[in-house]
Amino acid sequence: MGIRFDEKNKIFQINTPNTTYLMGIAQGKYLGHLYYGKRMESCDGVYLMRTGTGEAAEHSCRRDKVGFMDSFYFEYPAWGVGDYREPGLRVRDEGGHRVCELHYEGYEIMESKPALSGMPATFAGREPGQGAQTLIITLKDAVLGLKILLKYSIFEDSDALIRSVEAVNDGEGKLYLEKILSACLDMDNDGFDLITLHGCWARERHIASRKVTEGKHTVSSLRGESSDQMKPFMALATDGTSQKSGDVYAMNFVYSGNFVAETQLDYQEGVRMSMGLHPDGFEWVLEPGAKFETPEVVLVYSDQGLGKMTHTFHELYKNHLIRSKYLHSKRPIPINNWEATYFDFDDDKLVAIAKEAKKLGVEMLVMDDGWFGKRNNDECALGDWQVNEEKLKGGLKSLVDRVNAEGMKFGIWFEPEMISPDSDLYRAHPDWAIQVPGREITMGRCQYVLDLTRQEIVDYAYETVAKVIRSANIEYVKWDMNRPLADLGSFGLDSAHMGEFSHRYMLGVYQMQERLLAEFPDLLLENCSGGGGRFDPGMLYYSPQIWTSDDMDPVERLSIQEGTALIYPLSTMGAHICVCPNHSVGRVTPMETRAHVALAGTFGYELDVTKLSEEEKAKAVVFNEEYHKYNDLVREGDYYRIASYRENNLYDCWQVVSRDRTECLVTYVQVRFETQKKSRRLKLCGLDPKAAYRLEETGAVYAGEMLMNAGFLQDMIFGDYGSRLLHFIKE
Ligand code: GLA
Repeated sequence: MGIRFDEKNKIFQINTPNTTYLMGIAQGKYLGHLYYGKRMESCDGVYLMRTGTGEAAEHSCRRDKVGFMDSFYFEYPAWGVGDYREPGLRVRDEGGHRVCELHYEGYEIMESKPALSGMPATFAGREPGQGAQTLIITLKDAVLGLKILLKYSIFEDSDALIRSVEAVNDGEGKLYLEKILSACLDMDNDGFDLITLHGCWARERHIASRKVTEGKHTVSSLRGESSDQMKPFMALATDGTSQKSGDVYAMNFVYSGNFVAETQLDYQEGVRMSMGLHPDGFEWVLEPGAKFETPEVVLVYSDQGLGKMTHTFHELYKNHLIRSKYLHSKRPIPINNWEATYFDFDDDKLVAIAKEAKKLGVEMLVMDDGWFGKRNNDECALGDWQVNEEKLKGGLKSLVDRVNAEGMKFGIWFEPEMISPDSDLYRAHPDWAIQVPGREITMGRCQYVLDLTRQEIVDYAYETVAKVIRSANIEYVKWDMNRPLADLGSFGLDSAHMGEFSHRYMLGVYQMQERLLAEFPDLLLENCSGGGGRFDPGMLYYSPQIWTSDDMDPVERLSIQEGTALIYPLSTMGAHICVCPNHSVGRVTPMETRAHVALAGTFGYELDVTKLSEEEKAKAVVFNEEYHKYNDLVREGDYYRIASYRENNLYDCWQVVSRDRTECLVTYVQVRFETQKKSRRLKLCGLDPKAAYRLEETGAVYAGEMLMNAGFLQDMIFGDYGSRLLHFIKE
């Protein structure tokens, strides 16, 4: 595989199939970044260090060390000795000093990809040709006795580069890690645009782009979750980058809690891009002999625009991050009762929905919030995971058996990390909520958060959830998390360790999900956080799908799903057909359009089927058939973004092409009708240019090269919010 060390020039070269990453050692001690870009066989790049060589160069660097430190392209910059840009590492010693200078010590190359303890991490694939290699470079500050291990992993079949950092206290005194990012990348500015993902509840992951200008651009979360508002993703793209052309450098964080991602343009036109755990409020005590591992950052370089970046992320996550046995299978079509009933349901109502849905081809009933304790509204009972037998007469097993008897699977909703102030659990254990003594606990959606930094609370919370799952034939769990963290404080941490709170909370969540999958290996898990507030690679390690957004309006979903699919495979996007008018925005849209947009994700329903008209039910039968017909293609194929409603304000279009290029599905959503316009040209991608393709709906045959270069002419659909599925099959 592609990692080597050139002894003569002291250069590390990491080659993936299409990219090269180069690092060098300046003055025998400073690890510098030299190059990241298109693949090169040569690594003769000492000149890229810009420091010159020999004694004269060393002398000049020493006499103005501050100047040197502030301009050198450090592979992993530390705070305190003249590099005034944003550091990757800031560490305090027992004397209160924050000075660290990392010198190169050695390296190791492993023919594998080590896991991280207690955290999500990429892994070598199971198929031939998916092997991994890892480079570990050790840097050391001899005064502090601190070792920093920089880890770089690659996979045979991927252009992604996985980075993480491990700190080891090799000295005799305690060290305090105040900031320890997972990756930094120093480059020359190339007229970069910065692309990030922003939003809020029901408007998640909208793509934003702006020019990189002097100073810092930060996206971050301090909410204890990767958040709706900003996502742990950042890409730098050269001017004019499109789906097909331009250089793109992207980072995505394999983590679900607080993060920071930063781009800094300095006075020398250098750009430092970095990502990792958010340093605000963070401090990790490193006792002598102890180590600390950061989560991973995925780095992707594309020389062919955003499209290739997207493909690299999608393939990486499918082959090297998502572990679920359901990754490559068609998921059962669910009907979720949340927007159908909210809290107002009982066993008979649910069975009636299941029965009617079954007739249409739906395969699983998911019982959402409201089945436990006295939970008749969102003001109580989280933590009381005992079935409410007034609602579910005869208990959970009886309901599940009845639903199974209708030929439907059964799934259930939990919010395991939460505790309502009005709950038996809180009355018994008021100290289990996250809080600061003497302060009123801050509510979010009327609820508090369990202190998952404490092992006994993790054990209790896990056990109550597992007990319910053990009690009946439950085949799917929706794991929700409906409020951010505040009042960070734990009765289990002393003042010296309180800065570890947020990261320890995430470790508690990961531990619970790991245990769940180990005990119930056949369970289909879907993560959720008030919609898509925790749609991140960390969660994908545990669940093959994540609820994309509570907003199922098909027009709103266009931008949400475009931003999501920029990085994440379509097979991970939880998507349902909603009630009309839509509950989040009130829009009235054709059922076909709601279905076509949902078919881009996992597909399902979130409405009361018993209230549908006969005509709507007949349509649902067709949609379910379409799901079975197209889902293999949608789940496994290559995704292409053809047009963006976010950009053009008129229409949206995406395409999925089978890996062997024998078929493709194009989804066209015409948000606005334009009078006088007859048709619109859709330039397809990824087809075999030499082959002919038949459009199934009309029987017309087109040359692959025509469809890609001249485009397909889609007739205007009369009226707003129309949509079409176009299925092309190779002749
Ligand atoms: C969150 C989820 C919804 C639903 C509700 C239930 O908002 O995103 O899908 O499960 O919680 O309270």
